[in-house]
Amino acid sequence: MQNDIQKAAKFITASKHCIVFTGAGISVESGIPPFRGPDGLWSKYDPTCLELDFFNTHPKESWEKIYTIFYEFMGNAKPNAAHIKLAELEKKGIIKSIITQNIDNLHQDAGSKNVLEFHGTTKRFECQNCLKKSRQPDVSLDLLPPACPVCGGLLKPDFIFFGEMIPSHVNDESFIQAELADVVLVIGTTGEVMPACYIPYQAKDKGSTIIEINAEPSAFTNTITDIFLKGKATEILTQLFNLIK
Ligand code: APR
Repeated sequence: MQNDIQKAAKFITASKHCIVFTGAGISVESGIPPFRGPDGLWSKYDPTCLELDFFNTHPKESWEKIYTIFYEFMGNAKPNAAHIKLAELEKKGIIKSIITQNIDNLHQDAGSKNVLEFHGTTKRFECQNCLKKSRQPDVSLDLLPPACPVCGGLLKPDFIFFGEMIPSHVNDESFIQAELADVVLVIGTTGEVMPACYIPYQAKDKGSTIIEINAEPSAFTNTITDIFLKGKATEILTQLFNLIK
C-alpha cells in the first residue's frame, strides 16, 4: 500500500492536467452520511421527495423532508482534511478542476475554486414558475415551501432530482475536463450513478491514469482503476499530499 501511495504521488506530481472526481464518501468524515449502504440516507429516508412530479404536487411534504436531510444535516457540516488538501493542491497548480457529485458546497468552503457541481447545489434555488435562480439570504427557509423572491412561485433546490437532466454547461465542461486529464483522482464514489460515472471512463479512454481512493472497492476498481488506495479519504489524501512535490 505504501508503494502504491508513492506511485500515485509520482503520477500526480508529473501530471499536466490532474482532475478530481468526488462522491459522497469524501464528505463522510465531515459527518454527512453516504447515500447507499446500511447507514446510508436512502435506508433511513424515502427518496420520493426527490421525484419531480411528487415535489410539484406535494411541495410542503417534500420540502419538509428535503430540509431535514439536506439543510439540517448538511447545512452545518465543515470541510475535512480531504477537502482542504485538495484545495491546497489546486493552489499549488497541481489540480486543475474538481468535478463533484456532492451538493454540500464543502469543496468551495475548503477554498477550491474550479469546482464543477455535476448534481447542482443546496445553496441555490430555482423558481418552478419564472425559472429565476436565487440564494439565501434572499430566500428564507423559515416557512416551507419557500417562495421565489421575484414572483412568489415555488422554489426547488437547484440540485438534480431523480430523472432530471444534467444542465448542459456543467455536463459539457465536465467531459471536456475528462478529455484533457492525464490523471484522474477518483474519491469516495460507488461509480453507480449515470451519467456522472461515465466521466472517469471517458478520461481512461483518452489514456488517463485513474487513481482511486475509497474505503471499499467500487464499480471502477476492477474496471478502469490503475492504482487503488483503500482507506479513508482524509488519511490517504494526507499521506499523498505529503509526498507530492
Ligand atoms: N473515505 C473514502 N471513501 C468512503 C468513505 C471515506 N471515509 N466513506 C465511504 N466511502 C465510499 C463508499 O465505499 C462508497 O463507495 O464512498 C462511497 C459512497 O457511496 P454513495 O453514498 O453511493 O455515494 P455516491 O456514489 O457519491 O453517490 C452518487 O448518488 O443518489 C445519488 O445524487 C446522489 O451524488 C449522489 C450519487
